[in-house]
Amino acid sequence: MAVAKIGDNTFFVGAIDWHRRLFDSLIPLPEGTSYNSYLIKGSEKTALIDSVDPSKYEELLGNLDSIGVKKIDYIISNHAEQDHSGSIPQLLARYPHAKVVTNAKCKVLLEEHLGVDPERTITVADGESLTLGDKTLKFILAPWVHWPETMFTYLEERKILFTCDFLGSHLAPSKLLVNDISEFYEGAKRYYAEIMMPFRSSVLSHLERLKSYEIAVIAPSHGPIHLNPKLIMDAYQQWASDAVKNQVVLPFVSMHGSTQKMVEFLTEKLIERGIEVKPFDLVVTDVGKLAMSLVDAATLVIGAPTVLVGPHPLAIYATYLANALRPKTRYLGIIGSFGWGSRMLDVLKGMITNLKVEILSPVIVKGYPKEDDLKAIEELADEILSKHREAKIL
Ligand code: FEO
Repeated sequence: MAVAKIGDNTFFVGAIDWHRRLFDSLIPLPEGTSYNSYLIKGSEKTALIDSVDPSKYEELLGNLDSIGVKKIDYIISNHAEQDHSGSIPQLLARYPHAKVVTNAKCKVLLEEHLGVDPERTITVADGESLTLGDKTLKFILAPWVHWPETMFTYLEERKILFTCDFLGSHLAPSKLLVNDISEFYEGAKRYYAEIMMPFRSSVLSHLERLKSYEIAVIAPSHGPIHLNPKLIMDAYQQWASDAVKNQVVLPFVSMHGSTQKMVEFLTEKLIERGIEVKPFDLVVTDVGKLAMSLVDAATLVIGAPTVLVGPHPLAIYATYLANALRPKTRYLGIIGSFGWGSRMLDVLKGMITNLKVEILSPVIVKGYPKEDDLKAIEELADEILSKHREAKIL
């Protein structure tokens, strides 16, 4: 995308990464992503807010040249992760008078990760302001969304809040400015699930703090820019709240059909009881979709066969992921099978130390599930129903 004006002398100068399909060699990007960098021309000084992934540096330069930027005074670094900060060393070389403006923690990270000269950094504290002449930038420290140094920058005169990763989306937007929830909901929820969910309490405290600011536009550093900030802020409030939905997420893997039979039977019995079920065959699952499903669900049930007495490695992966993402899930079930012996239950139970869940009655069967085994699965469906009723979500 070329440059886009988002306000008075305020421009999107970032890069759209239409074809990127994986982030951190981990996170699927079915709709690409963007690295949003913003240029603000004040009457006296010019500031660039965040940079772009180093792979898109030339695109950023082209955008800056296209609007005649000869001098940058300040490069605001809201976050030290390389998809936003990675082009800063090249920018400092290209604009020899520019200074990086950031907080003390970010300054150290920029030095450690990118070799940014601390002599070229101006350190700002929470609430501090920087004048560009007719425009003022105010810095709001916002740790742990999602690194310890993350911060927001607020353009006071235009009420634009630059939030970097927070409130962002892994989307490559052909429409940059959005005011309809359908234009960003899926991408924003995917992003929240993968990046922000482990930091729910920080998300809520920053949302609370932002209530004291008048915000006309939210300009994150991934995905579209929000012209109706309430939509994305309300969505975050809901996702990060303790409220859960009458849903069971059911990641599973099956080798010879036993676990699959149990999963299918449980799915059927849960549906009969009015519970929404989201089964994920881990052989073909998009882990982003799995993460998204964990945002709201009251219950997680892991389905796994036994491999060499432990859980199938794909079930280990899904369990590790759920534990790392720290969803608000309240109940956890484990179902599965084994051929001749299994320690699967103990291994999986030992992997969920971050989850504040009540563990439901496990159902682990030898070989193909028989009548009694299916009865135990039906009892598990009853137990889930009862828990959801107790929690008043049904
Ligand atoms: Fe988009 Fe935490 O970097």
